Amino acid sequence: MSSLNTNLNGKVAVVTGAASGIGKQIALTLSAAGAAIAIADLNQDGANAVAEEIKQAGGKAIGVAMDVTNEEAVNQGIDKVAAEFGSVDILISNAGIQIVAPTDQFEFAKWKLMLAIHLDGAFLTTNGSRRCPGIGSSIVPSGSSHRTARLAPPAPSFWRASM
Ligand SMILES: NC(=O)c1ccc[n+]([C@@H]2O[C@H](COP(=O)([O-])OP(=O)(O)OC[C@H]3O[C@@H](n4cnc5c(N)ncnc54)[C@H](O)[C@@H]3O)[C@@H](O)[C@H]2O)c1
Repeated sequence: MSSLNTNLNGKVAVVTGAASGIGKQIALTLSAAGAAIAIADLNQDGANAVAEEIKQAGGKAIGVAMDVTNEEAVNQGIDKVAAEFGSVDILISNAGIQIVAPTDQFEFAKWKLMLAIHLDGAFLTTNGSRRCPGIGSSIVPSGSSHRTARLAPPAPSFWRASM
């Protein structure tokens, strides 16, 4: 786990897609810097497990069931965080999926799913968090450095374009 050269004591961070992978590592890093963390993920069991890991290490955390493509679920999840910790100061909009296929075999339904998670998810979690006390300029949508890659098969081009 990397460390941050900053003190986040008293701050509350929501990290989407934090039940695993990059989001989990972001959550652990923000927790080590002192923030209370909401692990917001489609995978509630996984979110609860990461929250438990943070609490075992002496941090503050809750697991929150959240489908970032669903406005009602996002707002309910954010409300749960605000009720538990009193504010949302930091939003890391990290939830994402990777679907890689040649452009001529990429199904439209998969394209729409990626856009919903990557773009609608960033929009809904940003708007949802803005309704809470605390949120300021600390909204971090994450993407991929591959986003400018060429749109040519057989590269994972549609996934790159969605990030
Ligand atoms: N791992 C890499 O090297 C890499 C590189 C570049 C970009 N990315 C992108 O970063 C993102 C995260 O990658 P990762 O490796 O951590 O993936 P991961 O699969 O380990 O984690 C993604 C998390 O997002 C959650 N999630 C999926 N759909 C969701 C939804 N609708 N609502 C809420 N949560 C949802 C999953 O349950 C999972 O916990 C992906 O979009 C991935 O494409 C990853």
